[in-house]
Amino acid sequence: MEIIERVQGLALGGLDELPTQFVRPAHERPENSKAVQGITVPVISISQPTEILVKEIYNACSQWGFFLLTEHTISPSLIGRLQAAGEEFFKLPQEEKEKYANDPSSLKFEGYGTKMTRNHDEKVEWEVTEEYAKELLKVTDALLELLSEGLGLERKALKSSLRGEEIELEMKINMYPPCPQPQLALGVEPHTDMSALTILVPNDVPGLQVWNDHNWVAVDYLPNDLFIHVGDQIEVLSNGKYMSVLHRSLVNKDRMRMSWAVFCTPPLDALIGPLPQLVNDENPSKYSTKTYEEYRYRKFNKIPQ
Ligand code: SIN
Ligand code: FE2
Repeated sequence: MEIIERVQGLALGGLDELPTQFVRPAHERPENSKAVQGITVPVISISQPTEILVKEIYNACSQWGFFLLTEHTISPSLIGRLQAAGEEFFKLPQEEKEKYANDPSSLKFEGYGTKMTRNHDEKVEWEVTEEYAKELLKVTDALLELLSEGLGLERKALKSSLRGEEIELEMKINMYPPCPQPQLALGVEPHTDMSALTILVPNDVPGLQVWNDHNWVAVDYLPNDLFIHVGDQIEVLSNGKYMSVLHRSLVNKDRMRMSWAVFCTPPLDALIGPLPQLVNDENPSKYSTKTYEEYRYRKFNKIPQ
């Protein structure tokens, strides 16, 4: 059996220097691309009058593709239980975790590993993740309605285009061990998510940065807030009115960072393209229409969309 050296195992060995395979090219290193000071990401409370909420979400998603959602309906205790279940998983001995390892040669991306995982096979507590998924679905439904309204469309427009009740939620738990030279490394390199929306909760170690107006902007940790990312599918459906946010994550010298990301995606065979209501002579279509499966294949293989 091939032995895979996991980042967590390397870090536990107690390193003084970062192994060269983790050193980023000079221009990408946090030390050479520092976050701008004095700018903060939008923070939006869901418990405000709908009219204001629609405007705030429209502004955040068209200018940032990202915002923090406060005063939402997911209880701090449920978030706490979700986090505890994930932390338990990473504390398991390596051999235990490898039982859930994903198979890089399969096209399924399931299980433990560096690629995208679906939660179905992971040994985190089922009841917690199911309850969280159920609550999160209510939040994504509300957001899709507000985003549709912001585009001047009927409330169900975006959700129907994502195939309504066939929408899928996939969870990925990220774990970034402490890093001896965080200024040279990245937890996750800059990317946009291919989902429709991504909803993330981190632990209390900051590290996420979003790209805005030619700068990296650090996202502060606010307990129990939901980090809402617009993904590629909403950018395409909105014909570019909403932007998929470019983001990256940094690592910490002393502390382990974790994040729990839920990707809200259409089913693989859903055809996604700019909504016809948003395309006209002044706003020609900016994106081609293709299945989500095709989009995903191209993104993984770095083929232009
Ligand atoms: C990711 O975008 O894949 C992870 C971001 C994070 O850990 O905050
Ligand atoms: Fe991401």
